[in-house]
Amino acid sequence: MASKTPAYVFSTLVFLLQLHFSAGQTVVKAAYWFPDSGVTVAGIDSTLFTYLFCAFADLNPSTYQVTISSSNLADFSTFTQTVQQKNPSVKTLLSIGGGNSKASIFASMASQASTRKSFIDSSINLARSNNFYGLDLDWEYPSTATEFANLGTLLNEWRAAVASESESSGNAPLLLTAAFFYSSDYYSLDYPIQAISNSLDWVNVMAYDFYSPNSYSSPNLTGPPAALYNPTSQVSGDTGITAWIQAGVPATKLVLGFPFYGYAWLLANADNHGIFAPANGVAISSDGSITYSQIKDFIAQNGATAVFNSTIVTDYCYAGTTWIGYDDTQSISTKVTYAKGKGLLGYFAWHVGADKAFALSQTASQAWGA
Ligand SMILES: *[C@@H]1O[C@H](CO)[C@@H](O)[C@H](O)[C@H]1NC(C)=O
Ligand SMILES: *[C@@H]1O[C@H](CO)[C@@H](O)[C@H](O)[C@H]1NC(C)=O
Repeated sequence: MASKTPAYVFSTLVFLLQLHFSAGQTVVKAAYWFPDSGVTVAGIDSTLFTYLFCAFADLNPSTYQVTISSSNLADFSTFTQTVQQKNPSVKTLLSIGGGNSKASIFASMASQASTRKSFIDSSINLARSNNFYGLDLDWEYPSTATEFANLGTLLNEWRAAVASESESSGNAPLLLTAAFFYSSDYYSLDYPIQAISNSLDWVNVMAYDFYSPNSYSSPNLTGPPAALYNPTSQVSGDTGITAWIQAGVPATKLVLGFPFYGYAWLLANADNHGIFAPANGVAISSDGSITYSQIKDFIAQNGATAVFNSTIVTDYCYAGTTWIGYDDTQSISTKVTYAKGKGLLGYFAWHVGADKAFALSQTASQAWGA
């Protein structure tokens, strides 16, 4: 009996350590925020989130250093302190790049050791000097096999630098995350799965923008912009999450993204108003995009009919020849329940300023539970 005691003690210790480690992995209930997006930093109800992403820091095209533009500095440098006033445990990440930044600058930066080092060192300094808990890479998108390989190298070097900075500063390591395409397969190019699994805390999976009324997408047929399931094509949130898991990224490192905005189409015929109905391009705004808050106002002002399709998991509404595809509370709660059921780490929204009085943020947080 006595000889078994050390083994028992040892395995209990290992168990407790594991328990401690996994208990430290908080569910990700997250949203991105950016300036002039409909809510001020102080106006965010941070009690509904465990993480908030501050968007975006920029990548300088000649020095490859990460910078915060002078017009954003006041908001960004006080972001953490401001959102922690309502929720002292919310953690913040500085997001770099975004959909409007130039992918080619990221590609150049990632192609050489010296420019990767500029990016890595400056990003860590910027996060620490502005009190962020982590960094988020939004390179949209690498587009060649070499660029995907360089992304992997960048992530591994970034992780090593973050670990060494943590050792020398004595602070907990910065979190490292990235926002990636909805699927691990980007037009037949594969994301660097091993580097992602080893070096990122998690991946924000952008499971939206599947259909829009713009000419490059689906101008002639309405569509579910962020379908969770899609009986007619491979493009859906579920297909993407399944691809990421099958490629080898643990479910516990995946975070499901959904939009707090929709897209408005001009119907070809006001009486034909289903999903995949004939359309003539954009309505309402120049690219058809419309925030959830504006959609709720549109429905109220125009007496629009709103429909939830539980097969696809999308909402849509129509009035006259305007048709809007979006996520309302039922789509959001179904997606959050899906994410939890799949064992994912959590969810995120783009973007908190588009919400209507935090209705979707609240729905999402409640659907996940504590
Ligand atoms: C939409 O319809 C226009 C006009 O018929 C056509 O020129 C265009 O190719 C169509 N776009 C797509 C994506 O099918
Ligand atoms: C949901 O949308 C799909 C695709 O348009 C359609 O086939 C299905 O009938 C819809 N379900 C309901 C309940 O309307």
